[in-house]
Amino acid sequence: MNLTAESHRIPLSDGNSIPLLGLGTYADPQKAPSSTEGEVSSRLTPCSFFSFSHQTPKGSCLEAVKIAIDAGYRHIDGAFVYFNEHEVGQAIREKIAEGKIKREDIFYCGKLWNTCHPPELVRPTLEKTLKILQLDYVDLYIIELPMAFKPGEALYPKDENGKFIYHETDLCATWEALEACKDAGLAKSIGVSNFNRRQLEMIMNKPGLKYKPVSNQVECHPYFTQPKLLEFCRQHDIVIVGYSPLGTSRDESWVNVSSPPLLKDPLLNAIGKKYNKTAAQIALRFNVQRGVVVIPKSFNPQRIRENFQIFDFSLTEKEMKEIEALNKNVRYVELLM
Ligand code: A2P
Repeated sequence: MNLTAESHRIPLSDGNSIPLLGLGTYADPQKAPSSTEGEVSSRLTPCSFFSFSHQTPKGSCLEAVKIAIDAGYRHIDGAFVYFNEHEVGQAIREKIAEGKIKREDIFYCGKLWNTCHPPELVRPTLEKTLKILQLDYVDLYIIELPMAFKPGEALYPKDENGKFIYHETDLCATWEALEACKDAGLAKSIGVSNFNRRQLEMIMNKPGLKYKPVSNQVECHPYFTQPKLLEFCRQHDIVIVGYSPLGTSRDESWVNVSSPPLLKDPLLNAIGKKYNKTAAQIALRFNVQRGVVVIPKSFNPQRIRENFQIFDFSLTEKEMKEIEALNKNVRYVELLM
């Protein structure tokens, strides 16, 4: 497959397609929200998975998405719980207004948070996201986590002992509500995230299944290559979208930093030298070349552009095998909730 900066979409099982490279917009919060910004987030409690209690610096996501679109990105990955979805929507709309892109050029993935699994909450939650984005549809809507928290105002509900309050979830019922969102045209495609094989099978074996998940977004990079899940998903025509493809920000509040920094890896750096590329570009190219979508997060103009420069070289089969052998089977993101 000849991948280029202009053309690097791969097909999804429902007839749509997804660009292999997207901009991640989850960022470590760096400042406390101001009183107006914090209206939603002040009700949150931080957790060891993602410390979502604060917003990202105002405008940083807006600028990053605009720079990314100018650099050639056509895929943006976001979520309601990143608290910057309004900036993503604004950036896309501004670039459409400028005439730089059309809405159909852009692929936006949004996510259903896990306090909203009850089927009756699914469509209103997606409608809320669309209102925040000020867009008519998302290209992909995914169930962010297979386990649920108690529905309600708090996004991270805790009991009096500080323990998260979980909630029973019927993933098949949630999935049917996502299918209805696709039928209503609110989401062009539907998928899942952080699902293991058993959870994927549960959906795919559901009696009366209308649409199967087109994608499963999971952690994926040279130190966590997901060989078994990738093989299973390939067999079932489910695209793997790799989050943390550069090994995360290594923010100790939510990252398992016992695994060494990916971008310092000697092999990735040595291969990079050969192609005049950085370790980050080699890590991204590795996944893209094996059909795994990557969504590196950067709000830094230079690194946003750097991460897009992965279509002007290719890795040899031997190099692909050597990088595959770096797998340590250790996650940076342990999803400890
Ligand atoms: P920044 O936003 O300052 O660029 P991941 O996508 O694996 O979660 O990685 C995101 C982290 O890696 C962020 O901290 C981001 O910081 C940083 N990052 C993004 N692109 C690069 C790059 N090309 N080289 C080094 N670090 C990068």
